Amino acid sequence: MANLTLKDLQKSYGKTEVLHGINLEVKDGEFVVFVGPSGCGKSTTLRLIAGLEDASGGDIEIGGRVVNNLEPRDRDIAMVFQNYAIYPHMSVKKNIAFGLRTSKLSKPEKEARIQDVAAILDMVDLLERKPNQLSGGQRQRVAIGRAMVRDPAVFLFDEPLSNLDAQLRTQMRLEIKKLHQRVGNTIVFVTHDQVEAMTMADRIVIMKGGHIQQVGPPEQVYRTPANIFVAQFIGAPSMNIWDGEIKGGRVMLGDVALPLSLAHVKAGTPLKIGVRPDDLQLGSADPILHGTVSLREPLGPETLLYLSSDLGAVIVRAPGKNPPEVGDRIALGALAENIHLFDATSGEALV
Ligand SMILES: Nc1ncnc2c1ncn2[C@@H]1O[C@H](COP(=O)(O)OP(=O)(O)OP(=O)(O)O)[C@@H](O)[C@H]1O
Ligand SMILES: [Mg+2]
Repeated sequence: MANLTLKDLQKSYGKTEVLHGINLEVKDGEFVVFVGPSGCGKSTTLRLIAGLEDASGGDIEIGGRVVNNLEPRDRDIAMVFQNYAIYPHMSVKKNIAFGLRTSKLSKPEKEARIQDVAAILDMVDLLERKPNQLSGGQRQRVAIGRAMVRDPAVFLFDEPLSNLDAQLRTQMRLEIKKLHQRVGNTIVFVTHDQVEAMTMADRIVIMKGGHIQQVGPPEQVYRTPANIFVAQFIGAPSMNIWDGEIKGGRVMLGDVALPLSLAHVKAGTPLKIGVRPDDLQLGSADPILHGTVSLREPLGPETLLYLSSDLGAVIVRAPGKNPPEVGDRIALGALAENIHLFDATSGEALV
């Protein structure tokens, strides 16, 4: 079994605490994506799992055994980095074979593995080429091949797509997902791109400042974010957040009473109210707010509208065809189920 468990994992550099106790269980064969802003500790977590650095506290278990004191090569993991780090003077085949340099397999077994991996990655015809004869995406595939050939219990990917152009990123994203469906290894994938996280993950781990903010399937962290940070980090454009208040037992957004229950809200709690740009309904007969269009971003199938309102800025996703004009005043509604309430002080969701 290749499950991975992090128990109260901590890391400090001198007096600087970078990870403050990470707890996570990754199931055998699961695809988990770590996402979070720059500096939140994603790479550090991965490097600790890989054994490239020592933990300051806590345990790392792979397949049920504590690996804290094992060398990287004895941990049954393989890591793919952002700067694919393949050797320019070696052929594709030699680069892939490099992953097996410490393996005890026989020569024919190694050869068979390399051919298997080349077939899965669609690189059989490229095995004799040098890296400078490959595209960026193909080079990244070589780096993945070098990791795959070891058939590790756990794959670790640290932003492997961030050096690629937008189109290639989308393509590689799909390829890695397909690869996972086919080989079924456990994968921990780090990115700061929330679209990558949403599209690839079985579960997303959202980090901030060395703490886990929320762990869950993409749909869950999108629909029921645990706090304002997650609400605004997942989903693009970000969730709109405005000040709310409680008056006469009702949740008020400006002077509109929202159809929300206050059962879970303590009296006197300062409120923030969130609605995603996709969940605001244009021209609603029962609006929760009004705004004036100040800017439009046409994206083809849809148009993003930036509005000014009494509550502050509002972003709305409108149709691509015949969207409202700059200067138009529009009414916006929202279903109760799409209105999020947060404690303004702690940022925690009130549900
Ligand atoms: N060797 C080191 N010495 C001191 N501080 C470090 C060291 N390595 C990393 N850090 C700090 O640890 C924090 C987490 O770094 P880490 O590389 O894990 O971030 P990240 O989430 O991967 O960010 P990015 O998205 O930019 O790659 C940062 O504040 C960084 O400055
Ligand atoms: Mg990093």
